[in-house]
Amino acid sequence: MKTYLVTGGAGFIGSNFVLYMLKKYNDITLINVDALTYAGNLENLKSIENNENYHFVQADICDKDAIKQVFEQFDIDYVVNFAAESHVDRSIEDPETFVKTNVLGTLNLLNIAKEQWSAGDDEYIEGKKYLQVSTDEVYGSLGDTGYFTETTPLDPRSPYSSSKASADLLVNAYFETYKMPVNITRCSNNYGPYHFPEKLIPLIIHNCLNHKEIPVYGDGLNVRDWLYVEDHCKAIDMVLNNGRLGEVYNVGGHNERTNIDIVKLIISYLNEHADSAITEDLITFVKDRKGHDRRYAIDPTKITNELGWVPETKFEDGIVRTIKWYLEHQDWMKHVTSGAYKDYYSKMYGQK
Ligand code: NAD
Ligand code: TYD
Repeated sequence: MKTYLVTGGAGFIGSNFVLYMLKKYNDITLINVDALTYAGNLENLKSIENNENYHFVQADICDKDAIKQVFEQFDIDYVVNFAAESHVDRSIEDPETFVKTNVLGTLNLLNIAKEQWSAGDDEYIEGKKYLQVSTDEVYGSLGDTGYFTETTPLDPRSPYSSSKASADLLVNAYFETYKMPVNITRCSNNYGPYHFPEKLIPLIIHNCLNHKEIPVYGDGLNVRDWLYVEDHCKAIDMVLNNGRLGEVYNVGGHNERTNIDIVKLIISYLNEHADSAITEDLITFVKDRKGHDRRYAIDPTKITNELGWVPETKFEDGIVRTIKWYLEHQDWMKHVTSGAYKDYYSKMYGQK
């Protein structure tokens, strides 16, 4: 009977993880701590909000008193830290918010877990673990060949990835200095339900359905390595249960695609299955993102060999499942794109 403190559980991957865990296990307690920024949405968790094993606490991970109170109220075994500012374009506009949440928030969680789990000098109560959900973006940008392994040097290039790399270094420091039981996972780009439409895939779907231009940065040939979100959730569960303490695990499914290929694929599906007015005429090449990383690609050999993790969802199936989910949840899309989203969008792309 484990008790999980999941932070950022109202966001994209966090909410998928909360739903995955509560479906898989009926003998866990799961506390979701989320500040409910623009990216957090409790609608995602409607189906489990009355589950007696689930508790929601609205709090900022930087808030020492609030986090301490959660540890005092619940006997936390695992911390899974998803809470973060996660959008590269926003980090270019406002790096400070990213440092606050992603670096200082992580530090606060580490400090409180260390204090609460302490069983003497560098000793911890049995069975505790802190898992930092990180990203392949900490490794920087690849050329046409090669893969990121766990020993690839950190070389973050955006304020977002720099803040995530800084957090990873702190997590590692707490392992080396204080022997805290920790793991770090570094996953490639996720896609799936509840993905906020500021990110590429849901933004394409949103704009297609609203007959808006699709802004493709630069030449559209940047490459991302896409993984269905549930496969990421499964990897985190495996690392929590069986990951060797202090280790980093890369997570990715060898599914590299150029951005323009993703755009064309989604347009083609929607044209055939939803609305014949959705065509490639919506594609608009716009000014490139500053410092735009060219290619990400993960080598997942370690997590496969050590923990037996393999991705289950093929991209061809996952992307159709995802598009169908958005078609069936247009109210969700309307809800998350009302209010501040419109201001953000017109500031970014000059469109209404
Ligand atoms: P998201 O932006 O969709 O969700 C972030 C969540 O964190 C939101 O619910 C938000 O309300 C919450 N939050 C933000 N600041 C907070 C704070 N100060 N205190 C408490 N809660 C706060 O992000 P996501 O895409 O679900 O990413 C989750 C994690 O996974 C992040 O750490 C991200 O770096 C990492 N990651 C994401 C991807 C990806 O493709 N999305 C890939 C690899 C790793
Ligand atoms: P994004 O979803 O923001 O994820 P990340 O930058 O963390 O990989 O972007 C994925 C890719 O799509 C990235 O190369 C930037 C590009 N992109 C566009 O071309 N247009 C857009 O409107 C967005 C949001 C992203």
